[in-house]
Order: sequence, then structure tokens, then C-alpha cells
Amino acid sequence: AFSIKGLKTAVFAAALAVAVSPVSAKNFKIAVGDGAGGTQEALGKAFIEALEKNSNKKHTATLFLNGQLGSEQDTVNNAAMGALDFSILAINNITPFSPSVGTLTLPYVILSLEDAQKVTTGPIGQQLVKNTIRDANVRIIGWAYSGFRVLSNSKKPVKSVADLDGLVVRVPKNAIMIETYKSWGINPTPMAWSETFAGLQQKVVDGQDNPYITINAMKFYEVQKYVTNLRYIFSIEPLVVSESLFQDLSKEDQQAVLEAGKAATAFSASFLKETEDRIKKELSEKGMEISDPADGEKEFIDKATSTVWPKFYESIGGKDKLNEVLTALGRETV
Ligand code: MLT
Repeated sequence: AFSIKGLKTAVFAAALAVAVSPVSAKNFKIAVGDGAGGTQEALGKAFIEALEKNSNKKHTATLFLNGQLGSEQDTVNNAAMGALDFSILAINNITPFSPSVGTLTLPYVILSLEDAQKVTTGPIGQQLVKNTIRDANVRIIGWAYSGFRVLSNSKKPVKSVADLDGLVVRVPKNAIMIETYKSWGINPTPMAWSETFAGLQQKVVDGQDNPYITINAMKFYEVQKYVTNLRYIFSIEPLVVSESLFQDLSKEDQQAVLEAGKAATAFSASFLKETEDRIKKELSEKGMEISDPADGEKEFIDKATSTVWPKFYESIGGKDKLNEVLTALGRETV
């Protein structure tokens, strides 16, 4: 039966529904795998600044550095379930959830920052956004460009493939990277990113690969001595938002998030250009010994491309997918 109290309750409930749906003002959580000073943090800060501006200060966000919210691969699961808002992580830690992303972690495909920008911001990037929503329930809204993953180790200078013999190298839990080291004759040790510093420190593993800026942000110079300028993976690191959260946002908020992602991506490219050389110099001043692979890296390139590429044609959705990327980059197809 009708009652004033019932009416009041109904009005109150309706007002509450309007207020909370779609998502009201929020301080989003952003998981970050790396430490302070890295390319992931730089991307995250730029994103937050643009998000505040684009949403007229309605929304902000907080970065949780150093894997505080879980390993990079765990954060994908958490965001997929809506238990985490955003995550910034290396692309190689998304590949296990959405294998077509592997096209961009195959060895020696992306050979420069310009290549990385071309594939992430063009039609190939847009396709990957769709695939990761479909496969992993996360939406890529921005990219950090972090530079080549150089190889570091605590034991000896590495110039040739043969020099790798006797080294225990940590890799992410990523089949493409595991196979790449196998093509170079060693069996690498898959280990979560959040456990890698301890692994190096306790000498469970001798070496690992990551970009200069990441090596510095993670303080690996404390436990690693030799660096080889490998260029097998140019590290690109997506900023992802939980697709369930994204769908709960109003159209305006979605737009604010997407635009902030774009602004942060553009900032990341300039951050890399301004920072990488300086960090490289600082690392050598801190005692790291840096060398180039022999013979222009030819042996590394030949072994990796001839054996690893064909092994992953099927998982990336066919050889054509790789050829699309190679064509977009103006290179010879396979
Ligand atoms: C990894 O090696 O697992 C990642 O590339 C680390 C990172 O996100 O920097």
C-alpha cells in the first residue's frame, strides 16, 4: 500500500542509484610492476595528471609501485575480474593471456622506438586492444616505451651466443622468451618479475634481461655486473584498465580515460628519449661493464628468427599476422 515513508525510501534509493551509477568520483588503483624512476611510473604519473585534468578533477588515481598489488601476471587476472582498476606491466606478461600479443614480443620484430610507436598506435595496436578485451577482459589504453631489453649478469662479459653457456638466465613466464634463449643454446629459468631481484641477489639465477631504465629503477646494478646490448625485444608496456570497470564508466569518463592514456603514451616516448642515455651512463659509472654483441649481433639474430618465429606462427594467429607487422614496418615478409 502507498505510504509517505515508502515514497521517501523509493526517492532516496533512486537518488542513490543516480549518484553511484555510473561510477562516481574515484581514486583508482594502478598496479605498477617496476620501482620508482622507471618508464612505467613515468607513464602512470602522466596518466594521472591527464585524467585529473580531463575529468575536471572528478577522478584521480594512485600508483602502487614495485609489484605491491601482485606479480604483473597476477594483476591481469585481478583486473579481468574487476578486483583491480588499472595495471602497467610489460607486454610479455600479457602474452600468456592473449597469445596474439606475441606478435610484438617475437625476437627482432620491433627494432626501434619508431617501430614501437608505429605498431602500438596504428591499426595493429587497435587489433591488439580488441584481442586483449576478448581474451583477457582488460583494455589497453596506453603504452610505455621502455627501450631494448639488454642482458645483464653477475658472472662474465657476454659477446657471443657461446658466452651464454654456463649462465642461468631468468626470463618472464613467457614461452617466446623461453624459446629464444633455447635457440641460443641455454635453458632459461622462468620467474615472476616480483621475485626477480631476490632471485638475482640470492644467486638462484645469474642474469636477466630488461631495459636500462628498468635495471636502474629496480636497482639491479647492486647485484649485476655485466651488460650486453642485445636488441631482441624492444620493451613496450601497456597500461590496461579492467574492462568491467571501463564499461561501468559514463561515456564522458570513458573518454577522459582514453584521452589520458593517449597523452601519457606521447609523454612516454619523450621520457625514453630524454632518459635512456643518461641512465646508461650512470649505470656504467656505478660499475656496470657494458659491451656490444660480436659481429653486429648476427648470430643471435639468425638463430632466434630462424627457429623461434616459425614455432609461434600458430599461436599469434598465423604467419600472416607477423607479415602484417613486418609490412607495416617496411620490412621483408617471411
Ligand atoms: C619482466 O621482465 O617480467 C618485465 O619485463 C618486467 C617489467 O615490467 O619491467
